[in-house]
Amino acid sequence: MTENIIENYQKNNLVDPFNRNINYLRISVTDRCDFRCVYCMSENMTFLPKVSLLTLEELYRLASLFIDCGIKKIRLTGGEPLVRKNIMWLIEQLSTKINSNDLEELTLTSNGSQLIKHANDLANNNVRRINVSIDSLNEDLFKKITRWGDLKKVIEGIQVAKKAGIRIKINTVALKGVNDEEIPNIIKWAHDNDMDITLIETMPMGDIDGDRTENYLSLTEYKETLKKYFTLRSCDYKTGGPSRYYICEETGGVLGLITPLSHNFCADCNRVRITCSGKMYMCLGQDDSVDFNSLMRSQATDRDIIDLIHQSIRLKPISHDFKIDKYNTLPAVSRHMSVTGG
Ligand code: 5AD
Ligand code: SF4
Repeated sequence: MTENIIENYQKNNLVDPFNRNINYLRISVTDRCDFRCVYCMSENMTFLPKVSLLTLEELYRLASLFIDCGIKKIRLTGGEPLVRKNIMWLIEQLSTKINSNDLEELTLTSNGSQLIKHANDLANNNVRRINVSIDSLNEDLFKKITRWGDLKKVIEGIQVAKKAGIRIKINTVALKGVNDEEIPNIIKWAHDNDMDITLIETMPMGDIDGDRTENYLSLTEYKETLKKYFTLRSCDYKTGGPSRYYICEETGGVLGLITPLSHNFCADCNRVRITCSGKMYMCLGQDDSVDFNSLMRSQATDRDIIDLIHQSIRLKPISHDFKIDKYNTLPAVSRHMSVTGG
């Protein structure tokens, strides 16, 4: 049915006003999480009321229409995507889009806490790669950073996923005075276990209990420290995201550095984000959003929704305006990362 509808648009093509081809959709399926990472949430977070969340059926309908418009890659994020009840149903549905070649990739960003339980089902549903966050390999420090996390379970989950044939990429948030001394060791561990790793700078998103500037570590500067441990060869690999990639000559593994604050990556941006309540954010670093929730609950036709998708893409801004220094300690965007899922 949607075949006819999108005739009016250039089929399978979402291009924004700055000529960027938008083919990557990140969907936050829940704002809830079973961890409380210090840089992400306060310990007693207030979550969205459950009624305001899109149902899994609504999420699938919306994702399918995005795919009809030309989205080729979907990443499920959160919060922790695997704590959403019945999430495997959505993954099974999206997996059929891979089987029919309408979607090229289905991935997840996860804290790894539920992988022991879900990794085999994920592998059976066309999930080939997962990003797992680990900020320390020291159990006590891991607990301190995540407040509620159990490192042993995460490592075991990774092992189950690898056994099932899923490639794992580690995400590590670099925190000055917290895990910076351990980072070379985490890189070596990841590479020794055949996993790529990406280091992330803290981004000013949402209120947390502490002061984020205290732990902000510029990865552009930290790269010089890393050069004492590894010979870093730049590689051309690009994902349309904020990561720049290097090969560590000593390990042969890939190291990504995400520097949203100290490096401008917006020119290559290929992505938009949908929150669990159906808001579309055209840019991670700006507050502008378009609401799909009320449209979807007003008996909108597929055509209406596709129209709104195209209209929203036309609103995508040229770049973000994050800033973090001692004069800008307030969050640059008020929503938490767990709302849009990074
Ligand atoms: N700044 C940087 N990274 C963050 N993450 C969550 N909140 C923030 C923040 N404010 C990280 C998570 C995960 C990734 C998706 O984003 O640790 O690795
Ligand atoms: Fe949960 Fe990820 Fe936020 Fe940690 S960073 S509290 S794992 S959503």
